[in-house]
Amino acid sequence: MKKAFLFSAILVASLAVLGQDQVTPVGDVRKVTFAANQLDLTTANAYVRIQAYGAAIIRVRISNRPFQPDFSYAVIAEAGKPALTRNEKGETAGEINLQTDSIKVRIRKAPFAISFYTPDGQLINQDEPGLGTSWIGTEVTTYKHMQDGERFIGLGEKTGNLDRKGNAYTNWNSDVFGYSVSQDPLYSTIPFYIGIHHGLQYGIFFDNSFQSDFNFGASNNRFSSFGARGGEMNYYFMYQPSVAGIIRSYTQLTGRMTMPPLWSLGYQQNRYSYYPDTEVYRIAQTLREKKIPADGITLDIHYMDAYKLFTWNKERFPDPKGMIDSLHRMGLNTTLIVDPGIKVEKDYPAYESGLRENIFLKYTDGLPYTGEVWPGWCHFPDFTSEKGRNWWKGQVTNYTNVGVNGIWNDMNEIATWGQKMPGNVLFDYDGHPTTHLKGHNVFGLQMARSSYEAARQALQKRPFILTRAGYAGLQRYTALWTGDNRAEDDHMLTGVRLLTSLGLSGVPFTGMDVGGFTGNPTVGLYTRWMQLGAFIPYFRNHTQLNTKSAEPWSFGEDVLATSRNYINLRYRLLPYLYSVFQQATQEGMPVVRSLAIDYTHDARIYNPAYQNQFLFGPGFLVMPEESVQQFAKVYLPAGEWYDLYNDVQEQGAQEKLIELSAVTLPVYVRGGSIIPMQSLIQNTTEKPTDTLTLQVYKGSKDSRFVYYEDDGASYQYEQGDYYKRSMSFDAVVKTITLDAPTGNRASQFKYIRIALHGFAENNLQVNGRAVSTTDLLFSYLNPKPLAGEPNSFTVKSLVLENSADKIVIKY
Ligand code: GLC
Repeated sequence: MKKAFLFSAILVASLAVLGQDQVTPVGDVRKVTFAANQLDLTTANAYVRIQAYGAAIIRVRISNRPFQPDFSYAVIAEAGKPALTRNEKGETAGEINLQTDSIKVRIRKAPFAISFYTPDGQLINQDEPGLGTSWIGTEVTTYKHMQDGERFIGLGEKTGNLDRKGNAYTNWNSDVFGYSVSQDPLYSTIPFYIGIHHGLQYGIFFDNSFQSDFNFGASNNRFSSFGARGGEMNYYFMYQPSVAGIIRSYTQLTGRMTMPPLWSLGYQQNRYSYYPDTEVYRIAQTLREKKIPADGITLDIHYMDAYKLFTWNKERFPDPKGMIDSLHRMGLNTTLIVDPGIKVEKDYPAYESGLRENIFLKYTDGLPYTGEVWPGWCHFPDFTSEKGRNWWKGQVTNYTNVGVNGIWNDMNEIATWGQKMPGNVLFDYDGHPTTHLKGHNVFGLQMARSSYEAARQALQKRPFILTRAGYAGLQRYTALWTGDNRAEDDHMLTGVRLLTSLGLSGVPFTGMDVGGFTGNPTVGLYTRWMQLGAFIPYFRNHTQLNTKSAEPWSFGEDVLATSRNYINLRYRLLPYLYSVFQQATQEGMPVVRSLAIDYTHDARIYNPAYQNQFLFGPGFLVMPEESVQQFAKVYLPAGEWYDLYNDVQEQGAQEKLIELSAVTLPVYVRGGSIIPMQSLIQNTTEKPTDTLTLQVYKGSKDSRFVYYEDDGASYQYEQGDYYKRSMSFDAVVKTITLDAPTGNRASQFKYIRIALHGFAENNLQVNGRAVSTTDLLFSYLNPKPLAGEPNSFTVKSLVLENSADKIVIKY
């Protein structure tokens, strides 16, 4: 005991003299303890701890001082079984061997280095020999050997190519108005990436909220690295046989989203800002008159009195509750923007109560931090303290009491004019007091969490929460949109890659300002972006102060017609989309899916020409292209694909030149898909007809889709109040099977229509009984297609009663 103390004292003393002028490595292992499924090492300069979080996840902690209490805003999982075991018999003198059922870990003792292998001995990842982990001052970095042909994907909201090799990134949440398409950092931090090489894939989540840096072979040909300005080296290594598996493991660690309110998947109309209330009504009425389905209107900062949070500008909005109620009656929900800055102004209730309850961030001398933002000089609640969050919950009822059910958290990087909150502002960090340097990147996450908890509690149903800033794990509370983009073609495409990267990083509910925030889009760009919007999880149209109007009717009749076609399609696809969201709640699978999830080892999907293509759920392959182009080269990965607009089947593993048109966005449907659709509705309070149509696409591989319904608003589904039906397509035994439904709820649909795409077979059997099909004229663009009209085609179809039995259709 005494000896150990002496050793620690010498270690700490020796570290104290190590400064910025040298690189201090972890060094040789001096002491090894393996107990309770955990390996602890003391090395020349550090402490190392290795644990398993399930068979697929190994945690590595390395600190140059005794471990601090373990605390994370991101991780909700606990270390535990299945256990990490040590294989002492198989060890040589210089090595320690650990393993779970899925990963083998080999540790070299002199100097310390760690490598990970598959159970059958393939190398997945290793420390760069000679570099490993080291410190420069308080900055800690781990260097990983770059494998031949290694690619890197993910890392959250980051610009650049799908394959991040050759680039480096910084995580420091930043307010980046009108950012450029290569700018870094942007608003949020998710220090998680996936490495890919030799048919393998792994994930690394570096859970450290200080400013961090990731290098994927930028300016060097030797290593990838990740490090932070302070704190511990603390990473989780994940290995799974697929990228989807890695996303599952990552979201097992950091959590998954809960079901969103159904209305938040409808179309949302925004601008900075709609006011006064008569203008809000005009927008609402025009949406309805022009038959543009919509579910929400957003009020930006001008609803407030002089930008003071939790107030209303009484001239512009004399009766907020009356207005919000009227909007509700029109099937429109109201989302309000909230900023964290509370104006310093005597007698302003939020300021006075914040002071009284002592919830503002403070300097080391106890004076509140004051920074300037929209309302002028402000104090900021400390959302990293329970007291601060509770105060916020009380304030948010000002909004929920008048019927607001969407909270849009903005400026929470924290944004202040000058963009330089001083380092000596203190954060509670939930009982682990620290400075701005560690609190910065989690502030947005904790603000969004506070809003989520506040609104969920006050409304007693699902709120919609949106944030600009965040940290790993944000998906548990909020959707995220990509901030102040520009009305430019390359921004639309960069936006797509931000969303696919966020999806790879555990965040399924994402959006971007459709049409572009700064500047004015051309007619072509606006049209293309609105088409794309139908395939974006959070579909909102937004634009800046002083830009031209950007509602769907602002660009002429043709644009209106095209925008409406795609918004209509979005509403007809809601049964599909809602089910895809349910999968996100179960497995963390994103809605907007990079092709790197299903086609990980196909080099062509990383080609910059194809990297913007994505899957919307499992079924739709979307190909966004610049609006100025007339032709585009696209890539159909392996399998069968059907043109959305004419049902023509194409073989995959094929590059293809296609002609672009202003009226359609290129989309293909994957063979084997089952796509549930409903009749057109104008908002989600309207009931569709009693028939659910399943678009079934023949493919050469088996597939499964889990169809899901619930009340769309409450948390009753957590108590089993849902209707779930697993549907599968079997290419070998030639069946389409609808398993018996599960859950305590009845489906809202009495009938199921099966629409068959690509099936030549004429003789069908349903549960052993011969049935005949009828021809159905169908179009994804027109809910009431006309014969001979472009973009419509005929499919075979049959209508069945939606019984609670298993239904087997043999073709
Ligand atoms: C920020 C937001 C933007 C909003 C504006 C005014 O720039 O990113 O969406 O419209 O502030 O509140």
